[in-house]
Amino acid sequence: MTDHDCVEFLHTVLPRLGLRWPGFRKVRGLVCKRLNRRLRELNVPDLRAYRAYLESHPDEWPVLDGCCRIPISRFYRDRGVFEHLEREVLPALAEDAAVRERRTLACWSACCASGEEPYTLAVLWRLRLRRRFPQVRLRVVATDIDTHLLERARTGCYRASSLKALPPELLAGAFARRAAQLCVRDEFRTIEFLHQDIRQATPEGEFDLVFCRNAVLTYFAPALQRPVLERVVARLRPGGALVIGIHEALPEGVTGLAPWPGARAIYRKFEPRAA
Ligand SMILES: C[S@@+](CC[C@H](N)C(=O)[O-])C[C@H]1O[C@@H](n2cnc3c(N)ncnc32)[C@H](O)[C@@H]1O
Repeated sequence: MTDHDCVEFLHTVLPRLGLRWPGFRKVRGLVCKRLNRRLRELNVPDLRAYRAYLESHPDEWPVLDGCCRIPISRFYRDRGVFEHLEREVLPALAEDAAVRERRTLACWSACCASGEEPYTLAVLWRLRLRRRFPQVRLRVVATDIDTHLLERARTGCYRASSLKALPPELLAGAFARRAAQLCVRDEFRTIEFLHQDIRQATPEGEFDLVFCRNAVLTYFAPALQRPVLERVVARLRPGGALVIGIHEALPEGVTGLAPWPGARAIYRKFEPRAA
């Protein structure tokens, strides 16, 4: 299969999956490789034949959907975002929780891949912030549709390359070497990993901080982005913070959020107005 054939195929099938081509432009190599493997498994000669196969086998669409998931993540991804979270957002949220006599700061990492994002948060909190807010406990829920990635997340072991951006002191404090990998120490393994399709489900409860980065607003079709994001925002406590990817934008028509002052890709949910 040539790159051209693969791109043409993706242009036609992605909209049927509720996905958008621009998100896949740079990462199509990964998807095309998986498609090649799938064609071989089915003994289908080319993408034209595979299209015909899809039309006569509706069960194949979820398999194709699985081929179009991009698992790329890393610890401390977009350093500036985590610096801002540490300096301003998490302290503001923790102070707010303390003032309201709430003992838990609830966070949700949506589309968490192998756990790099929620563990980054847990490590940052425990090693840099917890001492300042001893009365507040961090609870992190992390969800993804991919059971293999969730399994890796629960295992909590990574290659050094995915930890490159993590400040050395956090790396030393939170990881132990095990053979060729670096594994999260037990005290950071407090994350609840849940298998969920964000198109259909969100975790229970209200959250002070939600990460929704590099999935919904990059790969989902515009018509799907808004309803999904609205359901995500509905899970945020008023005054809570939403973090999106630094190359992403909120879908048009989403209301109730204002940019967090001075921050990139962080928004705050409006507090209800006093009557
Ligand atoms: C590129 S990774 C983003 C990881 C992390 N949020 C980050 O920014 O580093 C995208 C993740 O979205 C997940 N995903 C894709 N579609 C999903 C869906 N419908 N429901 C839940 N997770 C989904 C994929 O399995 C993948 O782990």
